[in-house]
Amino acid sequence: MREVQAKEAITWWHRPERIVLAVTVDLNGQPNIIALGWKMRTSFDPLMLAISIGKTRHSHQLISNCREFVLAVPGADLSEQVLFIGTHSGKNVDKFKTTHLTPLPAKHIRPPLIQECLVNHECKVVGQLDTGDHTIFVGEVLTSWAADTKQPVLCSIGTEAGYQCTHEGFGFRLGVVRN
Ligand SMILES: Cc1cc2nc3c(=O)[nH]c(=O)nc-3n(C[C@H](O)[C@H](O)[C@H](O)COP(=O)(O)O)c2cc1C
Repeated sequence: MREVQAKEAITWWHRPERIVLAVTVDLNGQPNIIALGWKMRTSFDPLMLAISIGKTRHSHQLISNCREFVLAVPGADLSEQVLFIGTHSGKNVDKFKTTHLTPLPAKHIRPPLIQECLVNHECKVVGQLDTGDHTIFVGEVLTSWAADTKQPVLCSIGTEAGYQCTHEGFGFRLGVVRN
């Protein structure tokens, strides 16, 4: 072994990672979407999901206030929209309008579902942890929705074998497991 910078060591294993979208709302009910690679399941029963959001993100302010979020899982057909969502801030742009994604009313919370996604989980924030420049928000899943269509989930990839790039830009490559 040779000692290396932590940032270099991370690049050896952190990709591929599945990408999710988190939807929140502002005080007026205006929804916003963020793309996230940093997420995990933290409990089976009740089902809980954690997401890590940078403190400078518009979504950080929104989720800190509204304490609810939809965690939506995009398929490969949404590569272009996901890249846009992950590289533009809701401070400056209405991401539902620009990406032509369709907000659907949720059953228990204010943030809307995303119709075009494969799965939507309605979550209420039950805990949060300050971790450096990000905050981990833990959401308890209140109810979940699944689309009838099946297609590969979207990953953030590097240049490793076994993955097909579906869209790239701004230093990101999005793709799916190669058939
Ligand atoms: C593939 C991908 C993965 C990302 N993962 C995260 C993440 O896990 N946490 C985070 O805070 N930002 C992540 N981002 C960056 C945010 O999505 C981005 O800064 C976004 O513009 C923030 O939007 P907002 O200001 O409307 O909240 C990711 C972006 C991309 C493209």
